[in-house]
Amino acid sequence: MTYQKAILDLPVISLRRATMADRPALEEMKERSMSALLDPLLTPDQSREMRQLTPFDPALVEDGTYYVADVNGWIAASGGWSRRAALFSAEQPGPAEPQFLDPQCDAAGIRAMYTHPDFARKGLGSLVLATALAAARLAGFRRAQLLATVAGERLYRTAGWKTEERVMVGTDGKAIVPGYRMSRDI
Ligand SMILES: CC(C)(COP(=O)(O)OP(=O)(O)OC[C@H]1O[C@@H](n2cnc3c(N)ncnc32)[C@H](O)[C@@H]1OP(=O)(O)O)[C@@H](O)C(=O)NCCC(=O)NCCS
Repeated sequence: MTYQKAILDLPVISLRRATMADRPALEEMKERSMSALLDPLLTPDQSREMRQLTPFDPALVEDGTYYVADVNGWIAASGGWSRRAALFSAEQPGPAEPQFLDPQCDAAGIRAMYTHPDFARKGLGSLVLATALAAARLAGFRRAQLLATVAGERLYRTAGWKTEERVMVGTDGKAIVPGYRMSRDI
């Protein structure tokens, strides 16, 4: 799918759950988002490793906890929440051994937030984030946590999230990508 720079006289935003039919568009949007909004903040090695850490996670879509913000038919932003323990795709255990969070004592995870660069800094990341937090709260969670990228940290800090720890993450012992463990009450 090709995106055009959207110059919209009448933007119509719809927030809806993602479906597996969205997968090709979501994967393309994720790559554009990372290339334009995250890679400039990372070294080439870190960018490559980032892609290993965050392949598309179908479990989020299958769980019904992943959302898209659609603007006049374009997927402009996406993101979601999860009751699974993993904070990013590469941390996910095998499908045979899922670990689920308990809303009574655990914090829901916020996952896979991406905005298409043509729509960056227009409030859509915040809209998707607020939607995911509201859904997690409806499901009984009162805290949320996430592992932020250097790009995401700016959004979350503005939205009242607190950094608990700065970490370096990576696959196969290659901990080279900077991240921020963040949390907040919901
Ligand atoms: C992080 C991301 C999802 C933010 O999406 P967005 O739709 O641009 O965010 P919003 O427009 O809602 O931003 C809300 C506020 O967050 C802050 N913010 C967001 N991006 C920022 C940036 N690049 N620099 C500084 N502040 C930023 C600003 O305060 C902004 O408000 P303002 O534009 O009125 O100043 C987007 O940059 C992205 O997709 N990045 C690449 C992928 C990624 O790293 N995702 C995060 C995974 S944890």
